[in-house]
Amino acid sequence: DHSMRGKNILTWLDYTQGEVSQLLAQAQYVKENPYSQSLKSKNLAMIFEKSSTRTRVSFEVGMEQMGGHALYLNSRDIQIGRGETIADTARVLSGYVDAIMFRTTSHEKLHELAVHATVPVINGLCDMYHPCQALADIFTILELKGRLGGVKVVYIGDGNNVAHSLMVLAAMMGMEMVISAPEGYQPDPAITEKAKNLAKLHGGAVIIENNPEQAVVDADVIYTDVWTSMGQEEEAEERLKDFEGYQVNALLLKGAKTDVSFLHCLPAHRGEEVTADVIDGDHSVVFQQAENRMHVQKAILQAVIGWK
Ligand code: CP
Ligand code: NVA
Repeated sequence: DHSMRGKNILTWLDYTQGEVSQLLAQAQYVKENPYSQSLKSKNLAMIFEKSSTRTRVSFEVGMEQMGGHALYLNSRDIQIGRGETIADTARVLSGYVDAIMFRTTSHEKLHELAVHATVPVINGLCDMYHPCQALADIFTILELKGRLGGVKVVYIGDGNNVAHSLMVLAAMMGMEMVISAPEGYQPDPAITEKAKNLAKLHGGAVIIENNPEQAVVDADVIYTDVWTSMGQEEEAEERLKDFEGYQVNALLLKGAKTDVSFLHCLPAHRGEEVTADVIDGDHSVVFQQAENRMHVQKAILQAVIGWK
Protein backbone atom coordinates (compact mmCIF):
# COMPACT_ATOMS: atom_id res chain seq x y z
CA ASP A 1 0.00 0.00 0.00
CA HIS A 2 1.59 3.27 -1.13
CA SER A 3 -1.17 5.64 -0.05
CA MET A 4 1.11 7.59 2.32
CA ARG A 5 3.97 7.98 -0.16
CA GLY A 6 5.09 11.59 -0.47
CA LYS A 7 3.06 12.76 2.54
CA ASN A 8 4.44 14.91 5.33
CA ILE A 9 4.18 13.90 8.98
CA LEU A 10 3.61 17.24 10.70
CA THR A 11 0.68 16.36 12.96
CA TRP A 12 -1.58 13.29 13.11
CA LEU A 13 -4.53 15.60 12.46
CA ASP A 14 -3.78 15.09 8.73
CA TYR A 15 -4.12 11.30 9.05
CA THR A 16 -6.90 8.75 9.38
CA GLN A 17 -7.34 5.94 11.89
CA GLY A 18 -6.79 3.46 9.05
CA GLU A 19 -3.44 5.01 8.12
CA VAL A 20 -2.27 5.07 11.74
CA SER A 21 -3.31 1.41 12.19
CA GLN A 22 -1.33 0.55 9.06
CA LEU A 23 1.77 2.29 10.49
CA LEU A 24 1.38 0.41 13.79
CA ALA A 25 1.16 -2.92 11.97
CA GLN A 26 4.21 -2.09 9.87
CA ALA A 27 6.12 -1.02 13.00
CA GLN A 28 5.34 -4.41 14.52
CA TYR A 29 6.67 -6.08 11.37
CA VAL A 30 9.93 -4.09 11.31
CA LYS A 31 10.45 -4.68 15.01
CA GLU A 32 10.42 -8.43 14.28
CA ASN A 33 12.38 -8.04 11.01
CA PRO A 34 14.76 -5.13 11.65
CA TYR A 35 17.21 -5.55 8.78
CA SER A 36 16.20 -5.04 5.18
CA GLN A 37 17.12 -3.22 1.98
CA SER A 38 13.69 -1.59 1.93
CA LEU A 39 15.19 1.94 1.77
CA LYS A 40 18.40 0.99 -0.04
CA SER A 41 20.37 4.09 -1.11
CA LYS A 42 17.69 6.41 0.29
CA ASN A 43 18.84 9.40 2.30
CA LEU A 44 17.23 11.29 5.19
CA ALA A 45 18.40 14.80 6.13
CA MET A 46 17.83 15.59 9.82
CA ILE A 47 17.94 19.25 10.85
CA PHE A 48 18.13 19.92 14.57
CA GLU A 49 17.57 23.33 16.16
CA LYS A 50 17.42 21.67 19.58
CA SER A 51 19.23 18.87 21.43
CA SER A 52 18.30 15.23 20.98
CA THR A 53 19.39 11.76 22.00
CA ARG A 54 16.50 9.45 21.05
CA THR A 55 15.23 11.15 17.91
CA ARG A 56 18.68 11.56 16.42
CA VAL A 57 19.97 8.06 17.14
CA SER A 58 16.73 6.20 16.36
CA PHE A 59 16.29 7.88 12.97
CA GLU A 60 19.95 7.42 12.06
CA VAL A 61 20.17 3.76 13.08
CA GLY A 62 16.73 3.07 11.62
CA MET A 63 17.75 4.35 8.17
CA GLU A 64 20.95 2.31 8.29
CA GLN A 65 19.05 -0.89 9.19
CA MET A 66 16.93 -0.45 6.05
CA GLY A 67 19.92 0.03 3.74
CA GLY A 68 19.70 3.82 3.71
CA HIS A 69 21.56 6.67 5.33
CA ALA A 70 20.81 9.67 7.56
CA LEU A 71 22.64 12.98 7.80
CA TYR A 72 22.77 14.85 11.11
CA LEU A 73 22.61 18.59 10.45
CA ASN A 74 22.89 20.95 13.38
CA SER A 75 21.09 24.15 12.35
CA ARG A 76 23.97 26.22 13.75
CA ASP A 77 26.44 24.52 11.41
CA ILE A 78 24.48 24.68 8.15
CA GLN A 79 23.76 27.96 6.35
CA ILE A 80 20.38 28.34 8.09
CA GLY A 81 22.49 29.42 11.06
CA ARG A 82 23.84 32.30 8.96
CA GLY A 83 20.46 33.39 7.65
CA GLU A 84 19.82 31.23 4.59
CA THR A 85 16.06 30.91 4.39
CA ILE A 86 14.15 27.78 5.32
CA ALA A 87 12.52 27.91 1.87
CA ASP A 88 15.87 27.83 0.04
CA THR A 89 17.15 25.12 2.38
CA ALA A 90 14.04 23.04 1.60
CA ARG A 91 14.51 23.45 -2.17
CA VAL A 92 18.22 22.58 -2.04
CA LEU A 93 17.89 19.56 0.23
CA SER A 94 15.01 18.24 -1.90
CA GLY A 95 17.55 17.85 -4.71
CA TYR A 96 19.77 15.61 -2.59
CA VAL A 97 17.68 13.58 -0.18
CA ASP A 98 14.48 11.51 -0.11
CA ALA A 99 13.01 12.96 3.09
CA ILE A 100 13.75 15.68 5.65
CA MET A 101 13.29 15.43 9.41
CA PHE A 102 13.12 18.77 11.24
CA ARG A 103 13.30 19.48 14.98
CA THR A 104 12.43 23.13 15.37
CA THR A 105 11.33 25.83 17.77
CA SER A 106 8.14 26.65 15.88
CA HIS A 107 5.40 24.93 13.94
CA GLU A 108 5.46 27.83 11.45
CA LYS A 109 9.05 27.04 10.47
CA LEU A 110 8.16 23.40 10.06
CA HIS A 111 5.28 24.39 7.84
CA GLU A 112 7.55 26.68 5.83
CA LEU A 113 9.98 23.82 5.23
CA ALA A 114 7.16 21.49 4.21
CA VAL A 115 5.67 24.02 1.77
CA HIS A 116 8.95 24.46 -0.12
CA ALA A 117 10.30 20.90 0.05
CA THR A 118 9.36 18.48 -2.74
CA VAL A 119 10.20 15.49 -0.52
CA PRO A 120 8.29 14.41 2.62
CA VAL A 121 8.95 16.40 5.80
CA ILE A 122 8.78 14.68 9.19
CA ASN A 123 8.26 16.63 12.39
CA GLY A 124 10.98 15.58 14.86
CA LEU A 125 9.41 17.83 17.55
CA CYS A 126 8.22 21.42 17.39
CA ASP A 127 6.62 23.74 19.93
CA MET A 128 3.14 22.31 19.29
CA TYR A 129 3.59 18.63 18.39
CA HIS A 130 5.81 15.57 18.70
CA PRO A 131 4.08 13.08 16.36
CA CYS A 132 6.83 10.42 16.19
CA GLN A 133 6.81 10.26 19.98
CA ALA A 134 3.05 9.79 20.14
CA LEU A 135 3.11 6.96 17.60
CA ALA A 136 5.76 5.19 19.70
CA ASP A 137 3.61 5.83 22.78
CA ILE A 138 0.48 4.19 21.41
CA PHE A 139 2.53 1.39 19.84
CA THR A 140 3.95 0.68 23.31
CA ILE A 141 0.48 0.79 24.87
CA LEU A 142 -0.79 -1.65 22.24
CA GLU A 143 2.12 -4.01 23.01
CA LEU A 144 1.39 -3.83 26.73
CA LYS A 145 -2.40 -3.89 26.81
CA GLY A 146 -3.19 -5.78 23.60
CA ARG A 147 -5.66 -3.13 22.47
CA LEU A 148 -6.10 0.64 22.17
CA GLY A 149 -9.87 1.18 22.16
CA GLY A 150 -11.12 1.92 25.66
CA VAL A 151 -7.66 2.07 27.24
CA LYS A 152 -7.49 4.90 29.77
CA VAL A 153 -4.38 7.10 29.46
CA VAL A 154 -3.85 9.83 32.02
CA TYR A 155 -1.35 12.54 31.21
CA ILE A 156 -0.21 14.51 34.25
CA GLY A 157 1.70 17.79 33.92
CA ASP A 158 2.38 20.28 31.15
CA GLY A 159 -0.11 20.46 28.27
CA ASN A 160 2.77 20.67 25.80
CA ASN A 161 3.87 19.29 22.42
CA VAL A 162 4.02 15.71 23.74
CA ALA A 163 0.58 16.00 25.36
CA HIS A 164 -0.93 17.47 22.17
CA SER A 165 0.24 14.68 19.87
CA LEU A 166 -0.70 11.96 22.35
CA MET A 167 -4.13 13.50 22.83
CA VAL A 168 -4.79 13.57 19.08
CA LEU A 169 -3.68 9.98 18.46
CA ALA A 170 -5.42 8.61 21.54
CA ALA A 171 -8.67 10.24 20.47
CA MET A 172 -8.29 8.92 16.92
CA MET A 173 -7.73 5.38 18.22
CA GLY A 174 -10.82 5.44 20.47
CA MET A 175 -8.92 5.68 23.75
CA GLU A 176 -9.95 7.51 26.91
CA MET A 177 -7.51 10.38 27.32
CA VAL A 178 -7.47 12.41 30.52
CA ILE A 179 -5.23 15.44 30.90
CA SER A 180 -4.45 16.84 34.32
CA ALA A 181 -2.57 20.12 34.21
CA PRO A 182 -2.41 23.15 36.49
CA GLU A 183 -4.16 26.37 35.56
CA GLY A 184 -2.24 28.13 32.78
CA TYR A 185 -0.60 24.94 31.52
CA GLN A 186 -3.55 23.22 29.96
CA PRO A 187 -3.32 21.94 26.39
CA ASP A 188 -4.05 24.33 23.54
CA PRO A 189 -7.85 24.84 23.36
CA ALA A 190 -8.00 24.52 19.54
CA ILE A 191 -6.11 21.21 19.56
CA THR A 192 -8.20 19.98 22.49
CA GLU A 193 -11.36 20.79 20.53
CA LYS A 194 -10.10 18.88 17.49
CA ALA A 195 -9.12 15.92 19.66
CA LYS A 196 -12.57 15.93 21.29
CA ASN A 197 -14.19 15.79 17.86
CA LEU A 198 -11.96 12.89 16.84
CA ALA A 199 -12.83 11.09 20.04
CA LYS A 200 -16.53 11.50 19.34
CA LEU A 201 -16.03 10.06 15.87
CA HIS A 202 -14.03 7.05 17.09
CA GLY A 203 -15.74 6.18 20.37
CA GLY A 204 -13.06 7.63 22.62
CA ALA A 205 -12.99 10.52 25.07
CA VAL A 206 -10.81 13.53 25.83
CA ILE A 207 -11.29 14.85 29.34
CA ILE A 208 -9.60 17.70 31.20
CA GLU A 209 -9.47 16.97 34.94
CA ASN A 210 -7.34 19.38 36.94
CA ASN A 211 -7.18 17.19 40.03
CA PRO A 212 -4.50 14.49 39.49
CA GLU A 213 -5.93 12.18 42.19
CA GLN A 214 -9.31 12.23 40.44
CA ALA A 215 -7.70 11.89 37.02
CA VAL A 216 -5.80 8.65 37.72
CA VAL A 217 -8.78 6.62 38.97
CA ASP A 218 -8.89 3.40 36.87
CA ALA A 219 -5.94 4.52 34.73
CA ASP A 220 -4.30 1.87 32.53
CA VAL A 221 -1.45 4.23 31.70
CA ILE A 222 0.01 7.22 33.51
CA TYR A 223 2.17 9.52 31.39
CA THR A 224 4.21 12.56 32.21
CA ASP A 225 6.81 14.83 30.61
CA VAL A 226 9.19 17.47 31.91
CA TRP A 227 7.78 20.61 33.47
CA THR A 228 10.28 22.79 31.61
CA SER A 229 10.62 21.99 27.91
CA MET A 230 13.57 22.92 25.72
CA GLY A 231 13.57 26.68 25.19
CA GLN A 232 11.64 27.42 28.41
CA GLU A 233 14.68 27.34 30.71
CA GLU A 234 14.07 30.91 31.95
CA GLU A 235 10.70 29.82 33.37
CA ALA A 236 12.13 26.79 35.18
CA GLU A 237 11.94 28.22 38.69
CA GLU A 238 8.40 29.53 38.23
CA ARG A 239 7.27 26.23 36.71
CA LEU A 240 8.68 24.25 39.62
CA LYS A 241 6.25 26.17 41.85
CA ASP A 242 3.31 26.04 39.45
CA PHE A 243 3.49 22.26 38.99
CA GLU A 244 3.48 21.50 42.71
CA GLY A 245 1.04 18.66 43.31
CA TYR A 246 1.43 17.29 39.79
CA GLN A 247 4.34 14.97 40.49
CA VAL A 248 3.88 11.33 39.51
CA ASN A 249 4.86 9.42 42.65
CA ALA A 250 4.05 6.10 44.34
CA LEU A 251 1.02 7.55 46.13
CA LEU A 252 -0.51 8.81 42.88
CA LEU A 253 0.12 5.43 41.19
CA LYS A 254 -1.84 3.72 44.00
CA GLY A 255 -4.99 5.46 42.77
CA ALA A 256 -4.73 3.81 39.33
CA LYS A 257 -5.32 0.19 38.23
CA THR A 258 -2.94 -2.28 39.88
CA ASP A 259 -1.36 -3.09 36.50
CA VAL A 260 -0.94 0.57 35.51
CA SER A 261 2.00 1.30 33.19
CA PHE A 262 4.14 4.39 33.57
CA LEU A 263 5.31 6.15 30.40
CA HIS A 264 7.60 9.14 29.88
CA CYS A 265 8.98 10.37 26.56
CA LEU A 266 12.34 11.13 28.23
CA PRO A 267 14.61 12.85 29.10
CA ALA A 268 13.28 12.81 32.70
CA HIS A 269 13.99 14.88 35.78
CA ARG A 270 13.79 12.53 38.75
CA GLY A 271 12.40 14.33 41.78
CA GLU A 272 10.47 16.84 39.66
CA GLU A 273 7.70 15.50 37.37
CA VAL A 274 8.35 11.91 38.51
CA THR A 275 10.00 10.28 41.48
CA ALA A 276 12.93 7.88 41.02
CA ASP A 277 11.02 4.98 42.61
CA VAL A 278 8.30 5.29 39.94
CA ILE A 279 10.42 5.76 36.82
CA ASP A 280 12.91 3.10 37.96
CA GLY A 281 10.19 0.83 39.39
CA ASP A 282 8.08 -2.14 38.27
CA HIS A 283 5.38 -0.13 36.48
CA SER A 284 7.79 1.84 34.32
CA VAL A 285 8.16 0.91 30.63
CA VAL A 286 10.11 3.99 29.58
CA PHE A 287 13.01 2.15 27.92
CA GLN A 288 10.72 -0.14 25.94
CA GLN A 289 8.93 3.04 24.91
CA ALA A 290 12.21 4.73 23.92
CA GLU A 291 13.26 1.72 21.83
CA ASN A 292 9.92 1.76 20.06
CA ARG A 293 10.71 5.22 18.69
CA MET A 294 13.01 3.52 16.21
CA HIS A 295 10.53 0.86 15.12
CA VAL A 296 7.66 3.28 14.48
CA GLN A 297 9.90 5.78 12.70
CA LYS A 298 11.14 3.05 10.38
CA ALA A 299 7.52 2.33 9.49
CA ILE A 300 6.94 6.06 8.91
CA LEU A 301 10.01 6.34 6.67
CA GLN A 302 8.98 3.33 4.61
CA ALA A 303 5.47 4.73 4.23
CA VAL A 304 6.39 8.27 3.19
CA ILE A 305 9.54 7.56 1.16
CA GLY A 306 7.95 4.45 -0.35
CA TRP A 307 9.65 1.07 -0.44
CA LYS A 308 10.00 -1.62 -3.06
N1 CP B 1 11.79 11.86 23.51
C1 CP B 1 12.63 12.51 22.68
O1 CP B 1 12.25 13.04 21.65
O2 CP B 1 13.94 12.48 23.09
P1 CP B 1 15.15 13.30 22.45
O3 CP B 1 14.94 14.75 22.78
O4 CP B 1 16.37 12.74 23.11
O5 CP B 1 15.16 13.09 20.96
N1 NVA C 1 8.33 18.57 25.97
C1 NVA C 1 9.73 18.26 25.81
C2 NVA C 1 9.90 16.97 25.07
C3 NVA C 1 11.32 16.53 24.86
C4 NVA C 1 11.43 15.25 24.07
C5 NVA C 1 10.43 19.40 25.08
O1 NVA C 1 9.83 19.97 24.16
O2 NVA C 1 11.55 19.74 25.45
